[in-house]
Parts: sequence; structure tokens; C-alpha cells
Amino acid sequence: MTAEAREAATLVVVNIGQLITGDPRLPAPGVIESAVLAASGDRVVYAGRASEFDVPTLADTVEVDARGAAVIPGFVDAHTHLVWLGDRAGEYALRAEGAAYEEIAARGGGIRSTVAATAAGSLEELVAATRERARRMFRLGTTTVEVKSGYGQAHAAEMRELEAARALNAESGVPDVVTTYLPLHGPVDGNRAAYLDGVLRDGLAAASRLAGFVDCFCEIGAWSVDECERLLMAGRSHGLRAKIHAEQRSRSGGAALAARVGAVSADHLEHAGDEDLRALAAAGVTGVILPGASLVLGGPPPPGRRLLEAGAAVAIATDCNPGTCWSESMPLMLSLAVATAGLTPAQAILAATAGGAAALGLTDRGRLLPGLRCHALVLETRNWLDVGYHLGSNPVARVIRGGRIVPAA
Ligand code: NIG
Ligand code: FE
Repeated sequence: MTAEAREAATLVVVNIGQLITGDPRLPAPGVIESAVLAASGDRVVYAGRASEFDVPTLADTVEVDARGAAVIPGFVDAHTHLVWLGDRAGEYALRAEGAAYEEIAARGGGIRSTVAATAAGSLEELVAATRERARRMFRLGTTTVEVKSGYGQAHAAEMRELEAARALNAESGVPDVVTTYLPLHGPVDGNRAAYLDGVLRDGLAAASRLAGFVDCFCEIGAWSVDECERLLMAGRSHGLRAKIHAEQRSRSGGAALAARVGAVSADHLEHAGDEDLRALAAAGVTGVILPGASLVLGGPPPPGRRLLEAGAAVAIATDCNPGTCWSESMPLMLSLAVATAGLTPAQAILAATAGGAAALGLTDRGRLLPGLRCHALVLETRNWLDVGYHLGSNPVARVIRGGRIVPAA
């Protein structure tokens, strides 16, 4: 095969009004007007002005006409709890009547009730429920999703959650799935110290074959800084990179812990102080804001602008879960991040794409640059600002995953 034949485009998207590349050398978010996007196999080979397009095409190269619409990178949703059965609609109504999240949990609801509902179903039911949510995400433009366990809270049940998430990687019409082991989440039955010992002794080794990350809910009433630190340090020796639910409901020390252990991300952070955010920046930890969960639970706004002012990288994610935010929509999260977290639309679209990739330690996606994976969205409209501006809509006309147009399932 000649060099030229290897480079030939297998997919070309023409007539792009505005191409959002995320190229850091251009003013954010890296807009190129009148553009072409081309892929060879699953990689971008060209993302630039139509007038300078110079990649050879073949008779069977697939051509997509964007008809003047905008094209943006696929969303990277870096924080979800997608694997669950049952629902907590009753809690939603109770909270509207004034019951606090913690009160409901103390009465046996909350995470504990989802753990029970999830345990009652089969693996097939779990995969089917997760697939349905993942398909909805894909139609809304998410091409990579992180999925946590955490509704198992016992060894076999946690592994089953990871297996259910990984099963989707064999399917199309869903995002690429990256998995995270979240053993310290809700309350456990029986002896808490014995459960943690079991996680350290057996859980991490088993999870290291099924997940890339380990996570914990570091919070008053959930898991302490000390317990989380033991988990994350031990996880490191199994090759699992650290993530933390930090400072969500109170300032409880999770952000400082994230900086101390060199976590890949610290997530939520509503109650973090500026010194916490500066510590994250100094340690290279990406701050993940979850504007849907913040909206549902109330309290301080997500610290989007504050993270950027502290010099930290920022990602936006859905937190999709049955308790604090049942939403599969990254476009909605982007709207909320602009409305409530102080981000500009340009900062928000970067946080939902390149930022999400950073929060997962993925350097092969999140921007549309030659050599990176071609995960891209052809929008319904000409203006990329519509993604956040058109509140609650689906701005996505077509999804390109790995250099192929994928019909929505
Ligand atoms: O990210 N904070 C902890 N975990 C989830 C909520 C889980 C649940 O309530 O089921 C969150 O908000
Ligand atoms: Fe979460």
C-alpha cells in the first residue's frame, strides 16, 4: 500500500458552515468557517478550510453533505451511574415537598433503594436498561461515556455492574464505554470496616480487569477522607486511576485528597474553597462539574468559572443516575453550565468535549484534529451556539463514531 493510498479518506463531510475543532492554537472553541472534515478509518485526516482540502478520495469514499450546518466533536460524558434498575420517582416528589436528600437516605431510600432494586434483576435486565439510556445519550451526541458501578455494594454485584456496562462496547448506536469501579458509594449492610477490607483485598484486583478507574463518595454520612484515601492509594497499585465525588454536599476534604493522590478528576465540588480549586490545578486534576445534579439538589452553583480562574481544567458531565439527576443530555448540561456555572458558551463546549476527555485521561479524542479519533456531530443548525442556546432540544442531526455515520438505534 502506498502512503497516498493509506491516507485516502474513507469519509468526507462537506459544506460545513462552522467546524468546531477545539484546536488550542485558534481562539476558543477553535472555529473554522466553510470547512471540510475527513476521516481515514477511525481517525481524522483533515479538519480545515474547504478551499485547502487536499486529501485523496476514492470511488467508495462516503460523502456527507452538512448543508451549511455546524460540526462539533462528539460529547465526552465523563461521569455517569448508568447501570441501575428501578426508579426513585417517589423521592423526586418528596424532595419537592421539602424532604432533603440526606433525610430520604436516612429513611432507607436513596442509594440503598437503588441497590436493592438493582440486585433484584437479572444481568440481561441490567444490560437492557443500560442500553436504553446509552442509546438515548448517543442520539443526543455523546460518543464516549464513563459508567460507574456503585449500585452493587457487594463484591459480586459490583462486578456485575461493570460487566453490564462493558457489554455495550460490542454494540453500535451507543457511545464508547469507559468503566469506573465505585465500591464506596452508599451505606453497606453489616460491618463497614470488613466491607472496606474486602474491597481492598479482593475487589480492586477483580475490578482492575473490568475498569480503568476507581472512585468513592467522599462525604459526611458517606465515606470518610481516610477510608477514601486507603481505597485510592490501593487502587493505584492495581493500575486503577483515581476519581472522587468531592465537596458535593459539604466541604469534607475530598478535593485536597484528590490533589494529594494525583487523581485524574475531582467531581461535583460545589462546596470547594478557592484554595481547594488551586490545589487541583497545581496537581493537574480535572474538575468535573455536574450542573444537573446541582440544579436538582440546590445549594451553591457548580464552580465552572471558579475552576478556570484557579487554572484548572474543567469538564461538564451529566451524572446520569436515578437519584440526583436522571438526564442523558449533554446539550442540556452545557446550557446549565452557561446559565449557572459561569462558563461562556465556548468554555462550555470545550468542557463537554476536550474537558471530558481530560477527565478520563484520554488523549485520542475530544477535539477534531488530524490523528485523533473521528467522533463528530453534524448539528441541525448553522450556529454552534445553538447547542446551549436552544434549551432542552436535541441539536444533533447525525452522529459520526470512529469515522462512520451511525444510524441512531
Ligand atoms: O453523583 N453523590 C453520590 N452519588 C450520586 C447520586 C447517587 C444516587 O443518589 O443514587 C451523585 O450525585
Ligand atoms: Fe456521581
